[in-house]
Amino acid sequence: MFLTKEEEKVLNGEYGIPRQEALKFLIKYGEALGAERLVSVQSVHTAMAVPEQFAKMIRGNYPLLNQVLLCSKRQIELGQLEVFTTTHVCNIEPYYYEYFGVSEEVMQANREIRAHYTKKGIIFTSTCTPYLVGNIPVRGNHIAWMESSAVVYANSVIGALGNIEGIESTLAAAITGKIPYAGFHIPENRKAKVIFHLDIILEKQSDFDALGYFIGEELENMGMSLDVPIITGFKQGQATQDNLKGMGAAMATSGAVQLYHIDQVTPEARSGLENIVEDLGKTEKIVVKMEDIKRTYDILSTATDPKVDLVILGCPHFSLNQLKEVALLLEGKRIRDDVILWIFLPAGLKELALARGFGKMIEKAGGMLMMDTCPALMQFKPENVKIVASNSAKQIHYFSAEFPEIRTWFGSVRDCINAAISGKWGGN
Ligand code: F3S
Repeated sequence: MFLTKEEEKVLNGEYGIPRQEALKFLIKYGEALGAERLVSVQSVHTAMAVPEQFAKMIRGNYPLLNQVLLCSKRQIELGQLEVFTTTHVCNIEPYYYEYFGVSEEVMQANREIRAHYTKKGIIFTSTCTPYLVGNIPVRGNHIAWMESSAVVYANSVIGALGNIEGIESTLAAAITGKIPYAGFHIPENRKAKVIFHLDIILEKQSDFDALGYFIGEELENMGMSLDVPIITGFKQGQATQDNLKGMGAAMATSGAVQLYHIDQVTPEARSGLENIVEDLGKTEKIVVKMEDIKRTYDILSTATDPKVDLVILGCPHFSLNQLKEVALLLEGKRIRDDVILWIFLPAGLKELALARGFGKMIEKAGGMLMMDTCPALMQFKPENVKIVASNSAKQIHYFSAEFPEIRTWFGSVRDCINAAISGKWGGN
């Protein structure tokens, strides 16, 4: 692999052992990917690793990371991180941990890890939506991010350049400021190879989740799950942060989409199809019909009994706009005693929502605002919960996989809140 003079100095240990070890790791990783060089990154989104001393207590163990990076005897110095770095969700909710069956001992270990990370200069955002709380690259920035829903958003909506990374590669990127120049870092790999034309008008945010889930599945069935789709016929005004946040997450769930384009909307698709589609004349075009969206709602709604036990919102983590919608729907109402409402959101937005009143409106109605984590990581289901409702295709997909015995309803935020209040599903 080609190395710059500066990278050679790092490799020779001139900037200390942690940076040297991290670079060695990135070179091996890059060679496995077929990368000819490294590229500088402007933003990192990593996850909380589990240091050796805590590994026995907390699920998950990352031996390579433990040897090389944060928790080894070779501690990195304060302020040594090269890049602005935030963290992905972890598996512990700091206020409701007892409710989720986490012991005080494990919670204390988690607090110490958080403090450790903070001392290293990592911003402990603990969210899958770092772009909602300050980690917002600009178009053309190279990034090293974890979390499929975040990467597809950054690549597609923001026009940043990155691949879905892991804990080791993102931490190595944070320490060295580099990542292999491969995959979606390379502009030629960002061309669309399939067209999905919308022959329909979508209405609710959950319709966009359903569209994303449909596109991911179609690509998977076509054996093109790693290829880039472009959507045509998308109504300009519907390209909202919330719609695109859910749609991309769903595409990356049923398929493996890391980048999509929307004709005339997303940054790389504003200058005509011929400039963003790889071979326009030969590109397959799939027309999306309302029956495709309805069928997706059916796939994600496996329940027949209208009774709802648990409502899960906030996958990917909720935005302020979505919180406001829920707060207003719940104003003056009360969630039924036999229904649980979980809402997941970034810590920074929870604080803001509580300070500005929306959070209190939701909690007063009986909803639980939770931060730092997500049900997919906690792998927890309250006893007696048999039927779950959500506005998120991704959450339904993963929660059903973890708990195959549960049945689900998929629909809009309004449908979900109505179910939380009435205890019955009345949506699509
Ligand atoms: Fe975020 Fe968990 Fe959903 S990480 S995208 S809330 S599955």
